[in-house]
Parts: sequence; structure tokens; C-alpha cells
Amino acid sequence: MLRLATVDLKRDAVKTLFVPVCEDKAIHSDPVVCGLVEKAMTIEAFRGKKDQELVLHNLSDPPIENAIFRGLGKAGQVSADSLRQASGRAAKRCIKMGVPRLWSAVPEAGALGIDPAVLLAALMEGILLGNHIFDRYKKEKENKPLARADFMVPADGARRFAALPPRIEAACRGAILAREWVNTPSNEKTPEAFAREVAAAAKKSGLTARVMVEAELRRRNFGALLAVSAGSRHRPALVVLEHKPRRGKETVVLVGKGVTFDSGGINIKTGPSIADMKSDMAGAAAVAAVLLSAAALKLDRRIVGVIPLVENMVSGDATRPGDIVTSFSGKTVEIGNTDAEGRLILADALAWALKTYAPQVAIDVATLTGACVVALGEEIAGLFTADEALKEEILAASARTHERCWPLPLPEDYKELLKSSFADINNMPSAREGGAISAALFLSEFTAGTRWAHIDIAGPAYHKKESAICGPGGTGFGVRLLLDWLLHISPRFG
Ligand code: BES
Ligand code: ZN
Ligand code: ZN
Repeated sequence: MLRLATVDLKRDAVKTLFVPVCEDKAIHSDPVVCGLVEKAMTIEAFRGKKDQELVLHNLSDPPIENAIFRGLGKAGQVSADSLRQASGRAAKRCIKMGVPRLWSAVPEAGALGIDPAVLLAALMEGILLGNHIFDRYKKEKENKPLARADFMVPADGARRFAALPPRIEAACRGAILAREWVNTPSNEKTPEAFAREVAAAAKKSGLTARVMVEAELRRRNFGALLAVSAGSRHRPALVVLEHKPRRGKETVVLVGKGVTFDSGGINIKTGPSIADMKSDMAGAAAVAAVLLSAAALKLDRRIVGVIPLVENMVSGDATRPGDIVTSFSGKTVEIGNTDAEGRLILADALAWALKTYAPQVAIDVATLTGACVVALGEEIAGLFTADEALKEEILAASARTHERCWPLPLPEDYKELLKSSFADINNMPSAREGGAISAALFLSEFTAGTRWAHIDIAGPAYHKKESAICGPGGTGFGVRLLLDWLLHISPRFG
């Protein structure tokens, strides 16, 4: 899909061209592109201001059918993310126009003060992510995505940046897969069905995949996970994916919350947003997709993905508020609220994974709390870790990918909120305030002794409205973030 191309606009047939433009500076070196920008600027409505768009049709010199100009604003303020968004919008314009192939004029990195590889990667990501259409459930497929995107670089650039297209394609394919899984309705992704689908995809990619079904989970005493699943007629599952390169002895464990539908259980959710709770497995989707992409990229580190899958439903078999269960770790948990189910399945999955693999580091991703959305809004995930170095690594990956995270604390004294009169711990905190923190503290009780981070993605995992690089629904948040983190901690990077 992505190609680096050396193009002579005077000679080569380019039907549709995307040209990013700044309002205060010429940012292209190709004289033909500069000429096109000059022409665009003669049109009064287009000044190259941020988010402005102009499409010129049927140009004769050079002969171009569609030239899409997108404003970036002032050159000094252009970031990798504004380029990502501009190219995402350009891809969306192409879809609307029904064109199958787009050439992009790549700006001079020096003119924008951005590293050339970062600039090119951002443009590529925008095109791939903006090009995703989820129309599986529409009879009339109105739109077709781009089939090919060429990026104009000088001859030496094609060699210099040859590693970029496959890397960006693997990461974006992962993000798109995660989106598709999140957008799939809950009736078509019951825990066992989703487990089978993930395991099949994983095996195709060369990962090892194992699915534990209910009998095994029972035998192994996953008491907290089973309590969440009890009310559903669909049986739970736990998927374990493993990427095992020959080199790389250290192990990373990734755990993703996989509630295929969260009705709240007996503490049933009210209000219209309950329909969005098909997205409560976005952490699971992200972890599965990261493993598939890690295999495609042949990362030289052992990575284990642990994906607990349950449906949180209401029935005569459902767990009652006030029930006490014994978790995998041996700790007893009073289930003060059946809607705080994510921490229950994660407690068991984390405890099992740490015991089984003794990893050097573990990260969980979960649509865990509404409180985190209240605290940080829809665009930013909450990052919890007691490990300063791990925090810095994740924040660096967050800055590079623009999958934004913000650190929140794990104060020891707030553990008071999780005290139970009858069991070792209560899944329902005694105060509403600080809900994202008390949820993270609950998880911390099951990860002692391991470098561990928790990322609460309840806000950024699912957006009702489309954006420059995404359609409505699942965003694939976490996939590019975790892959970038893995790439940068991999031994090859030192
Ligand atoms: N899945 C929800 C969290 C959520 C909320 C995700 C909004 C995405 C968007 C989680 O299981 C939940 O219901 N959490 C409760 C916890 C409370 C009962 C302690 C919440 O946030 O209200
Ligand atoms: Zn819930
Ligand atoms: Zn939930």
C-alpha cells in the first residue's frame, strides 16, 4: 500500500496529488509543487491556514486530475501530529472522490524543523489510519478506500527510508484490526468466539496461541474472573499469545481487559451509553493486535499477551453485590459492585501471568473507569506506575505516537478506600472521588514485586464521532503506543 517514489511531475502520470501547505513559508523544494502551491494561493479562500482545504481539478500543467491542498498553519507550529491529521483528511477526501491512488508531496523536513523520518512516518500513518472504513454491516458499500499511496522523495530518500513503509504498515494494520474488533457488535464477539478468532489470527502470524476455556479456568481457580462471567450464557475464555524470538530472553507481559459487553451486571448500567459497552474489550483488542504486529515486525523480545474474555450480564446466575469470591491470587474479594468487573478479571489475569511467566515488566490496558474520562477527557489515557523509568519510557512512546497518556498517582493511603469488613479487599471503593486511582490501586494489589504499569483507556478507546484519522467507533488506541514502546526497549535499539 505505501510506496516511496521518485516522481517527475512534468513527466510521470500523477492523477491525484496531496500537497500540505503552510500559510507563512514555502515548505516544498520541488519547483513543480511550488508552482502548484502558488496557484492554490491565488484563490482567496485558501491561505494555507490550519485545516483549510482546497481541491483543484483538471490542471493542465502539469496534468493532474485532482490536487488536494491542506493548510498546516504557521510553519513554526507544525508538529508530526498536525501532518498526521492533514494526511488523514486527505485520505478521507480521496475516499469521498472515489480515487484509488494518491501521491503525496512530502515537505522539506528542514523547513518545518522536524526530523525527516518522523515527518514521513506521520504522513504515512495519517493516510493509512484515515483510509480505514468500517462498513462490514452495510449492504451498500458506498465508499472505497485508497488502494495505494505514493510518497514523493528524492532518489536517495527511497533508500534512506526504505524501512519505514513496512514498519508503519504493520503498526497501522494492528490499530485498524483493533478498531474492527471493537466495532464488531457484542452478539458477534462472545468471549469464546472472539477467543477463537484471535487465536486463529495469531497462529497465522506465527505466534503461539492457547485458549483456556471455562473448565480449565475453574480448575486453576480464576475465581474473580468466573464471578464476572457467571451471569452470561456465553462462557468465558482466556487467550494467551506468545511471540518467542530466538534472541531476547527478557519477557514482557501485556494484559488487556476483554469484557465483550458490560451491562454492569446486577448493578446494571442506565442511560443510552450502555450500547457503547461493546467497546469494553478495547484493551484486549489492543493487546492482541500488538502481538500480531510484533510478530510481523519480528521484534527481538519475548512478548506474552494475556487476554481475559467475559461477558458481564444479568441473570439468575449472576453474581450478587455483596458476594465474596476467592481470586486466583488467593485474596478474597467482596464484590461491592458488579459494574466494577474489569479489575476483577484483570486481577486474575495479572496474578496468573506474573506467576506463570515471571516477566521483567508487565503492562495492562483497560477501559477501566468512567472516572478516568472525567479526569482526563476523551483524548488522554491515565497512566499509573510506581516505576519511574517505565513511566518515562511510556511517556516517550506517547509523545512519539501522539497516543496521549498522562501520569496519575498511586497513593498508598488511598488503599483505605478498598477495605472490606468481610473480605481481604472490596472491588467497590468507599468514595466516588478518585475512581481511576482506586481502580489502579486495586490492580496494584495483584502485581506486587513486578515492574508494572496500568493504562486506563476508557476515554480514548472509543469515540462516537469521527476524527481526521479515524471513523466513528473504536480508535485502536494503545496499539501504536505499545508497539513504539516495544520497538524502543528492544535490544536492537540498545
Ligand atoms: N467499563 C466501565 C468503564 C467505562 C466507562 C469504560 C465509560 C468506557 C466508558 C467499567 O467496567 C465500569 O463500569 N466502571 C465503574 C466502576 C465503579 C462501579 C466503581 C465506573 O467507572 O463507573
Ligand atoms: Zn463495568
Ligand atoms: Zn467494564
